[in-house]
Amino acid sequence: MDTWPLRRLVLRTPRLELRPDDDAGLYELVEVARGGVHPPDEMPFGTPWTDAPPEQLGMNTMQFFWARRAELSPRDWFVNFLIRVDGRVIGMQELAATDFASLREVRSGSWLGKRYQKNGYGTEMRAAILLFAFDHLGAEIARSAAWEKNVASNRVSERLGYVPDGSFRVAPRGEPLTHTRLRLDKAAFRRPSWQLEVDGLADCVHLLTG
Ligand SMILES: CC(C)(COP(=O)(O)OP(=O)(O)OC[C@H]1O[C@@H](n2cnc3c(N)ncnc32)[C@H](O)[C@@H]1OP(=O)(O)O)[C@@H](O)C(=O)NCCC(=O)NCCS
Repeated sequence: MDTWPLRRLVLRTPRLELRPDDDAGLYELVEVARGGVHPPDEMPFGTPWTDAPPEQLGMNTMQFFWARRAELSPRDWFVNFLIRVDGRVIGMQELAATDFASLREVRSGSWLGKRYQKNGYGTEMRAAILLFAFDHLGAEIARSAAWEKNVASNRVSERLGYVPDGSFRVAPRGEPLTHTRLRLDKAAFRRPSWQLEVDGLADCVHLLTG
């Protein structure tokens, strides 16, 4: 019996390895964030966490993800998958759900260090968690959202089959910004040509599906 069975879960795509975060990986993730995530004059996130000074950003990031781990329950979970290429962390892909056993819905969010963007990794990691959610957890709907001017994020969603599903406004820097809600039904998923490899799910599936 493993005390924290999520540590054995791993998803593999042709180029990426996705694992629920561990502390060593979070330290690496902080360094990636300090290297820049988006142009400084834009704010793609609803919470302006990247505006924190570098010395605060590290602690804030660790505490944010520790809290998600501490609160994890079958009713309400958030798994922060660290994305690695050749063993190095390049960003994160979150997968989360509330009342998954009843609703069969997941939601996601992600970011990559600036220097790792525009290589197709963003599409590959989102496709990975969609394959995982639909085919391994039994999800029926995946939801996401992005600032309407976030070309890369909206393009990833569009390529994988999401459709717009309304909008909402946030004001991370005081000015209102419109974000598009996105919805993907399992049948509309534009699947990648590759297969996802999943290891270690049997011991932790009960934590995610209730
Ligand atoms: C959103 C994000 C994860 C996408 O990852 P990525 O690896 O850069 O995306 P991909 O390389 O898979 O590109 C996906 C598509 O967007 C396009 N694209 C990527 N960056 C772009 C840019 N800056 N401007 C215009 N198009 C862009 C790509 O050409 C590709 O389009 P195609 O499929 O028609 O060829 C990444 O850009 C990122 O971390 N951005 C900053 C943080 C962020 O915005 N997170 C999401 C918050 S909702």
